[in-house]
Amino acid sequence: MSQSTRVYIFDTTLRDGEQSPGCSMTVSEKLRLAHKLTELGVDTLEAGFPIASEGDWEAVQAVSREFRDVQVAALARANKLDIERAASALQPAKDPRIHTFIATSDIHLKYKLKKSRQQVLEEAAAAVRLARQYADDVEFSAEDATRTDWDYLEQVCHAVVEAGARCVNLPDTVGFSVPTEYAELIRRMVKALGPEVILSVHCHDDLGLAVANSIAAVEAGARQIECTINGIGERAGNCSLEEVVMAMRVRQDRLPYQTAIVPEHIYATSRLLSSTITFGPQPNKAIVGDNAFAHEAGIHQDGYLKEKSTYEIIDPKSVGVPEAKLVLGKHSGRHALKQRCEDLGYPLTNDELNLVYKKFTELADTKKGLTNDEIAGVVRRTVERLALAAANK
Ligand code: KIV
Ligand code: ZN
Repeated sequence: MSQSTRVYIFDTTLRDGEQSPGCSMTVSEKLRLAHKLTELGVDTLEAGFPIASEGDWEAVQAVSREFRDVQVAALARANKLDIERAASALQPAKDPRIHTFIATSDIHLKYKLKKSRQQVLEEAAAAVRLARQYADDVEFSAEDATRTDWDYLEQVCHAVVEAGARCVNLPDTVGFSVPTEYAELIRRMVKALGPEVILSVHCHDDLGLAVANSIAAVEAGARQIECTINGIGERAGNCSLEEVVMAMRVRQDRLPYQTAIVPEHIYATSRLLSSTITFGPQPNKAIVGDNAFAHEAGIHQDGYLKEKSTYEIIDPKSVGVPEAKLVLGKHSGRHALKQRCEDLGYPLTNDELNLVYKKFTELADTKKGLTNDEIAGVVRRTVERLALAAANK
């Protein structure tokens, strides 16, 4: 049977993202972001971990009450107290999902949980059964799945599906997996669980492989990706929503999958998150970084100005970036400077351009890049000097 190519985007910016250093958010900040994430088109919004704090419970409740067109999820460990707390916060939700989890790797069982494999398997199934009393849609996550024995993991997956889980998530909790290995694991579990169960992936970026692992998993049959805006999350962060979505969009020839994300909202969502938490994406971050669409080298600028596709694979406007930001610096060529001067309202003659270019390179040698105001200043001073020289002849 051919599998659907629709991939669900489960956004965990407000939960996994929020629980990382410098990222905590108030209820009203979460509501503001939830509004933007809904506009962006995420399928599921994980709004918090209600047992963790009063604020998290309130945030999940407020998001559930105010956002009726998106599925709202709440996280709960595999125990009665957590599940009941999540269920109560989700009560106003139109389409609630309880997301319950327990670790399954031997490392976590031995050192963290101090439980046997059989105990964990039984607790996982019992948690899902209990959660199903409160919500039709229950997701189960096998924390540290990628370091779990695969035969045991398969037993746990079968047990939670039998108990009523609709979605099974196999997180790469510590960002340890590599794409070929993760794909193999996902292919095996998709085959074992059959088409009724949505297999989900949740990749951390400790080795910088979160996006690559998520894509490999989708190719192997996963149909839900858990991700965050700007890739925020525990330690090195999570799979970045904007990167994974745009990879699938730009490379439809290789990755023929669809999401409901409206890419034009990506940049504004990223900006809103950056202004809410204590940091933004690094300048060279794909899609949303300050330099993501900046071309400084003269050869690049020249090619770009002749035909954008020479150096640009995404139209910045398609992800909501206001304009391609051509940084003019010491590597920039005459062609780029002429174009920028025209854009700033100064069409230059060849003589003017020669002199402006000379002054510009002298100044650019001393700085990291020139702003539009600085370039306009160079042009005005040079044109005035030329006019004065002409008048004195
Ligand atoms: O990284 C992880 O394993 C998690 C789970 C709770 C899904 O965040
Ligand atoms: Zn996580």
